[in-house]
Amino acid sequence: MQTRQIIIRRLTPADAKDYRRIRLLGLQESPEAFGSAYVDERKLSDLEFRRRLGLNPDKWTLGAFQGHRLVGVVTLIRNGGRKERHKAGLYGMYVVTKSRRRGVGRELLHTTLKIADTMPGLRQVFLSVVEENYAAVALYEAAQFKPFGREEDALLVKRKFYAELLLVRRVVRAQPIL
Ligand SMILES: CC(C)(COP(=O)(O)OP(=O)(O)OC[C@H]1O[C@@H](n2cnc3c(N)ncnc32)[C@H](O)[C@@H]1OP(=O)(O)O)[C@@H](O)C(=O)NCCC(=O)NCCS
Repeated sequence: MQTRQIIIRRLTPADAKDYRRIRLLGLQESPEAFGSAYVDERKLSDLEFRRRLGLNPDKWTLGAFQGHRLVGVVTLIRNGGRKERHKAGLYGMYVVTKSRRRGVGRELLHTTLKIADTMPGLRQVFLSVVEENYAAVALYEAAQFKPFGREEDALLVKRKFYAELLLVRRVVRAQPIL
């Protein structure tokens, strides 16, 4: 099937409305995939989402656009503090159901990892993923994320506990320690 080209770019405060919409959609549609809850985040204003997208060299939220439509998002946050600045976490990966299985998630992940690979002093990117989220686990493993732990009962969603895998990926060209 012919699909429109996907453009990946960094989101800015001007994208706050679209970002809020897709974030809330994700929390509603895939509650077991995220640590945050729809009922909590829906209370947050557009202003709070604008703040989240404020320019910060340690925080990158990328969006995938199909035409003008935001169809996927992911966020990379570098840890603060001199003892942990060599690590960054990947959060909030989400692709709307209609756009799945077309390489959008992979494109978002690869672009994020390219950014991580150029951050001076960064050595690894970590994330957690619900063990039974086979689609996401396959996506991350294909990008060379390796498991380093497993948390039993990590999330409680609608009275069901979910275990999470903890994954890490070394940066491709580790920078010298600063
Ligand atoms: C996980 C998610 C982001 C994948 O996005 P996507 O755009 O459909 O993924 P892609 O089309 O880029 O697929 C890339 C790879 O991921 C894996 N994958 C994606 N969907 C899959 C599925 N349903 N079953 C098995 N593997 C799957 C495959 O390895 C795939 O490579 P392939 O197409 O060569 O087989 C998407 O399913 C999603 O948003 N899920 C709900 C939210 C979520 O689980 N987020 C992750 C939180 S940790």
